[in-house]
Amino acid sequence: MGLQPIHNFNLRALNTFGLDVRAEKYLKVTTENELEAAMALVALAESPLLILGGGSNLLFTADVSGWVLHIAIEGIELVSTDSDSVLLEVGAGVAWHDFVRYTVERGWSGLENLALIPGTVGASPIQNIGAYGAEISQVLESVTVFDRQTNAYRTFQTDGCDFGYRTSIFKQAWKGRAIITHVRFRLSSRPRLNLSYGTVKQELAAHFPEPWTPANVADTVEAIRRSKLPDPAVLGNAGSFFKNPVVTVEDFMRLVEACPTIPNYPQSDGSVKVPAAWLIEQCGWKGKRVGNVGCHATQPLVLVNYGGATGAELMAHARAVQQSVWERFHVRLEPEVNLYPS
Ligand code: EPU
Repeated sequence: MGLQPIHNFNLRALNTFGLDVRAEKYLKVTTENELEAAMALVALAESPLLILGGGSNLLFTADVSGWVLHIAIEGIELVSTDSDSVLLEVGAGVAWHDFVRYTVERGWSGLENLALIPGTVGASPIQNIGAYGAEISQVLESVTVFDRQTNAYRTFQTDGCDFGYRTSIFKQAWKGRAIITHVRFRLSSRPRLNLSYGTVKQELAAHFPEPWTPANVADTVEAIRRSKLPDPAVLGNAGSFFKNPVVTVEDFMRLVEACPTIPNYPQSDGSVKVPAAWLIEQCGWKGKRVGNVGCHATQPLVLVNYGGATGAELMAHARAVQQSVWERFHVRLEPEVNLYPS
């Protein structure tokens, strides 16, 4: 049987904000053959196309006119092993956290700090997901994409992905052009733990005897995340809504003069990252609810849907937060989530 597009498809279960939006046409593909067939259909229709994974970093600002292509390519394959590492190839549709558990259960190291991040493996390189001192660019080997311009597959090695803080070539120059089908990761087959983030080390020490395993770290990270971040299955959200702003040293001096206690993370190029959560909390938004939306009580950088919210309400709330941070600190908050339509 050929591919069957579904018309007027409800996307509520496919976005972690839980927004009740509809797609004019929806197609789910589970193999590369299906993807190629789908692209022939979409090309014929010449209408806009949204590539969807887990919908966990996405805010629908309206119903979707045109196509939604849901990438559900599964599979975790062990490509090769050597004396101290394993190379894995993973389908874009694999749930990120399932993949992390798969690796830590085998004692492999590299992804344990990234446990419990919602979304799919295919979406993970787009914004170079990171948490607790780790980023996937540190363990990613290559990304295979279907290039919509040439209708051919192409593989990007890590150094061709232009990875940065919450960004990559797939969010910039290749946005809308690349459909990620597989990602390769090289993991250490021995524990090589990254305990640079103080809270992780403290909690690990409090709960597990040494020597610590990657699974111990993943369990610790899961517990920390559960204690702070709302579960999208309970309260609609897309994780951090804004990026942590990076300011010039001159701007930082101005901020410190006004607020000597401002937390800060100096960057290697001399700029300074400041926590958006702190700026938002100072402006009085922490735990504040406005209608159906708000800033979460334990992590105000997370915008939440208390139920029945629309994308427009969330956007209005995001703009109000941006506006007050700008007025108080003269710092611009930039969304981390993707807006569609933007
Ligand atoms: N802070 C406050 N008030 C709060 C919470 C935090 O002032 O209520 C300040 C504190 O100074 C704290 C700092 O913000 O030290 C940083 O907070 P946290 O460690 O919770 O991390 P974050 O910078 O807010 C980033 C990522 C998260 C990731 C965590 C942990 C971004 C945009 N977000 O958040 O990623 O889980 O670090 O590493 O970089 C996501 O991208 O969706 C995400 C959840």
